[in-house]
Amino acid sequence: MLNSFQPHAFTYLTLPDLPKIPDHLVQQGLRLIAEGQQEKQNLSTPYVDPGKKYARDRHGEYFSRDRKLVSEKTGLETSPIFNTTYNMDQAWTDWVHENITSVFYESGIRVTDSYDTESKYYGPHTDGAKFKLFYLVDPGHEATTTVFYLEKDQPLVRNLRDEFDIQIANNLDDLTIIDEVRLPCNTWVLLNGYIMHGVHNCLPGRRIHFFINMPAERVVHSIRIQ
Ligand SMILES: [Fe+2]
Repeated sequence: MLNSFQPHAFTYLTLPDLPKIPDHLVQQGLRLIAEGQQEKQNLSTPYVDPGKKYARDRHGEYFSRDRKLVSEKTGLETSPIFNTTYNMDQAWTDWVHENITSVFYESGIRVTDSYDTESKYYGPHTDGAKFKLFYLVDPGHEATTTVFYLEKDQPLVRNLRDEFDIQIANNLDDLTIIDEVRLPCNTWVLLNGYIMHGVHNCLPGRRIHFFINMPAERVVHSIRIQ
């Protein structure tokens, strides 16, 4: 029952016992990205996503190319980085189902390309009312961190209506960092989408991860921890 579900106040949990993704599936994902990069090089604008573009949030701001992150304290004004999502095939879906979780509604591979941009930030956001299983294949740059925030006048665990209720924060002065981590590669990590989070130090590189989005209220019973 979604209404009675209270998400826990964790930021992330590493799950080292969950199976590694088989190499042939990793290679399949990397091929999709490489083909997308070729496609991107042929486009006149560097900001058009060649892969599937999500545009489902209620406010249209999370994905807006006009979004600006600001800080009066540091004088920062910058556009955030965006990422590109690629769908995997049925073999991937079957593997996830058999090895990782029986309950998910969305998964794939994502690349955050910071070669084309001056910005060092992936913008602060919630994921909507969901938990995300995250598996980093390439950190992009070794200094890149995943950051969790408490926003001024907001609860740490946000009250989100559904999995599409993505909330954002653009003023970094309103955010207090409560946790910051260099996520490990080739290890599943459970991220709490109810807590505002983003990515810092997106120095030149291609950060690549697999993701599995799950309805939060059923996660505890669905992950296939041995
Ligand atoms: Fe997120």
